[in-house]
Amino acid sequence: MNAPTVSLARASDAPAALLLRVVNLQKSYATPQGPLPVLKDVNLSLAARETLALMGESGSGKSTLLHLIGALDHADSGEIFIDGVETARLRENARAALRRETVGVVFQQFNLIASLTVAENLAFQARLAGRYDADWQMRLTERLGLTPLLSRYPEQLSGGQQQRVAVGRALAARPRLLLADEPTGNLDEATGDAVLALTLDLVAETGCGFLMVTHSARLAARLSRRAVLEAGTLADS
Ligand SMILES: Nc1ncnc2c1ncn2[C@@H]1O[C@H](COP(=O)(O)OP(=O)(O)O)[C@@H](O)[C@H]1O
Ligand SMILES: [Mg+2]
Repeated sequence: MNAPTVSLARASDAPAALLLRVVNLQKSYATPQGPLPVLKDVNLSLAARETLALMGESGSGKSTLLHLIGALDHADSGEIFIDGVETARLRENARAALRRETVGVVFQQFNLIASLTVAENLAFQARLAGRYDADWQMRLTERLGLTPLLSRYPEQLSGGQQQRVAVGRALAARPRLLLADEPTGNLDEATGDAVLALTLDLVAETGCGFLMVTHSARLAARLSRRAVLEAGTLADS
């Protein structure tokens, strides 16, 4: 009974393609003592709208993994799919487009451009990506509490204010995936909590995925899932 309806329902219930899938990823660095294997077998998946805390000891390769996912560096072997597209096989101009349009990155050290105002820093990535949207930019600026600071330069801001600018810059082009490498590592606890709360609100509003490296179990608990990188391996999925 109702066989055609059932098969239609199955088709529409098929699982959505994962936003991010990392498969058997390996990466070593060349050192004077020979190759240093950092990532030996990393497997990781993230669905759209998921928020994942990546944990692990200092030196375990968390930043290395984030750089590979953000197409800032190349793996030795393995695959990274973003929206079903394997990124290592893309040509360099397509990888550059991925960095501008698809992925946003927030670093521990803020990495704002010192010679640009807050307004210019906020718009920087969206303009590069050809995705500047004045309404979204204004809303993002207001949500991050940056409206009174738009004409200042980074050196005239506190750490928490600088990191709010970095979050706004990373989200201005409406990326599919936001990566953050210890984004609260240089902030005091209350400021870090506030920056993460704002980030999580905006992540939910834009519907992007969020992968955050943190040492704090307390902050990690506020994300939907946790994974630990240990001895070069991660078997999250
Ligand atoms: N460019 C590089 N050249 C050589 N070794 C590196 C390089 N970058 C990182 N490493 C080494 O790789 C390991 C992992 O580093 P990293 O990914 O920064 O770890 P984490 O972010 O977990 O602290 C460390 O031993 C680090 O010293
Ligand atoms: Mg690191």
